[in-house]
Amino acid sequence: MNNPKHSAFADTAEEAIAAQDALDGPEMTSEMATEVAMQNTLLTPRFYTTDFAEMDAIDVTPVRKDWDALIARMKADPNKGHFRKNDEWQANWEGMEPALKAEFIDFLISSCTAEFSGCVLYKEMKRRGSNTDITTLFQLMARDEARHAGFINDALREAGIRVNLGFLTQQKKYTYFRPKFIYYATYLSEKIGYARYITIFRHLEKHPDKRFHPIFLWFREWCNDEFSHGEAFALLLKTDPALTTSRMNKIWIKFFLTAVYSTMWVRDHQRPLFHEALGVDVTWYGQEVFRKTSEISKQVFPFTLDIDHPRWRPNLDRMERASVQVAKGKARGGFGGTVQRLGGMARAAAAFAAIYTIPAIHHTVPDSPVMEPAY
Ligand SMILES: [Fe+2]
Ligand SMILES: [Fe+2]
Repeated sequence: MNNPKHSAFADTAEEAIAAQDALDGPEMTSEMATEVAMQNTLLTPRFYTTDFAEMDAIDVTPVRKDWDALIARMKADPNKGHFRKNDEWQANWEGMEPALKAEFIDFLISSCTAEFSGCVLYKEMKRRGSNTDITTLFQLMARDEARHAGFINDALREAGIRVNLGFLTQQKKYTYFRPKFIYYATYLSEKIGYARYITIFRHLEKHPDKRFHPIFLWFREWCNDEFSHGEAFALLLKTDPALTTSRMNKIWIKFFLTAVYSTMWVRDHQRPLFHEALGVDVTWYGQEVFRKTSEISKQVFPFTLDIDHPRWRPNLDRMERASVQVAKGKARGGFGGTVQRLGGMARAAAAFAAIYTIPAIHHTVPDSPVMEPAY
């Protein structure tokens, strides 16, 4: 049955958010979820703002052919109506172990925040811009992210939880990034998002008994959306060759690769029960996602990180232990807690430096970045 009210059918982000808000009656409060989503630590999803005028000035002429093809595909909207529950949706929250349930809810809230973070940034670019190429793209991406966030909220609502999207938009702290940093960070988060979703989807295809919640059935179409978003940023990066070839920018690209990969590693290792329930070895999963993301990122970045280097994994683990120490120090408070926290931060920084200085693996970048989702 078609329900035009649902966010899955919305043509714009605004419509999708309004549809989600309409589903939540006044009795539906979830301070815990919104509180989790409001957190601003190095590990939690952030909201971004940028120099929208500079982004609006981008000229996509150098990539016109690929650009038009991508926009046409996104406009055709193959996933319209997909992100809503159907007969395959059989959620069993009551049967879930409480500890697993807690980790899974944390996963959903953090995913919802990340999806919505993209939505807010893209929507704002669309609103402020006057360059039709750019505003068209950002409106289409905002639409997709709002549907994704809405669908996760559908899942959470069944557990009596929701993330208040309107409240987040207004109250969450925004971090300013120069446009080129937005390109690097967002390109990577879209592509790593694709790699994460498809790796779980393929794993569960082989082990359907491990699919402890129906939302994973939606991951294939989901990751195809993220793949397209990543393609758009790859094209944006191609409009100005200096973005991926200048000495300084290469230093930044390596920084973002290291930061995105290590954040994912630390965050995933904090959800052992979630991964155990999926039957996924979290260390294998991390390396597998890095491998796919690195392979894809060769389309624009002139090097990849050496994730098989002997210094790689030990220092990711060191960073993970350091982040636990920081969290404990923060929870403990007082002078002792501060010392513990600062010690943890110093250890994390040392581990980051140890990874950052691993020599990268260089390769030749193709003229056209265009790729198909192949995993
Ligand atoms: Fe998304
Ligand atoms: Fe996306």
